[in-house]
Amino acid sequence: MTDGYFITLEGPDGSGKSTQARLLAERLRAAGRHARLTREPGGTPLGCVMRAVLLHPEATLEALAQAGLAPGDMQAEPMLPLTEALLLSADRAQHVARLREWLAAGDVVISDRYADATLAYQGYGRGYDLATLRALQAMATGGLAPDLTLLLDLSVEEGQRRKRVGHEDGEEINRLDLEQRDFQERVRAGYLALAAAEPQRWVTLDARASMGALAEQVWAAAALQLGL
Ligand code: TYD
Repeated sequence: MTDGYFITLEGPDGSGKSTQARLLAERLRAAGRHARLTREPGGTPLGCVMRAVLLHPEATLEALAQAGLAPGDMQAEPMLPLTEALLLSADRAQHVARLREWLAAGDVVISDRYADATLAYQGYGRGYDLATLRALQAMATGGLAPDLTLLLDLSVEEGQRRKRVGHEDGEEINRLDLEQRDFQERVRAGYLALAAAEPQRWVTLDARASMGALAEQVWAAAALQLGL
């Protein structure tokens, strides 16, 4: 058991969870709580390296070649589903050590994605066996589960529209954003199934709401659990 409180935000790409995670952390701090904001993949220094490999393998290989750390004539290759699942889990194992320290110190920890993302993307999205992925997550997390998970649900169409607009404003497009629409549909359905299976932990919010209105709903869900 931990003394702090662990909140995760999940949702399909373009659902606005990163903005909502930041707004929630700011509001918790204004309410006098010690809030930590983090993310997966990439919540630790080593995790940033794994994030680059996972989301931008070609650019990573190029940078390594330029630094003399990879042969210059190497081409990026497709990532196997198992490699992807293991890298994400390795990122998570490294992250969990830090999460545990913060929670033991009594902090409210907000993570922009966590283990449920692997079930949604690699399990429901890629079709990787869910029981195997759950066993892998048990290993990576050592059993650390969120106290509250907020699902920012959004249609694939609207998510992709927002991604396009974000990209025009300079937001990065990663390897998974380029997946086909049916993949994104399976991820969304997967998240909804995970939320339905564990209603005591998940709160599903409609991410079509404006940023401000959604922030109010996120705050209401967190404040209720934290007694604020
Ligand atoms: P994120 O930084 O949340 O990207 P975005 O802001 O575009 O939603 O996550 C990066 C990508 O990694 C995202 O497409 C989802 C994917 N991902 C997985 O496939 N499995 C995982 O376990 C995690 C944590 C992320």
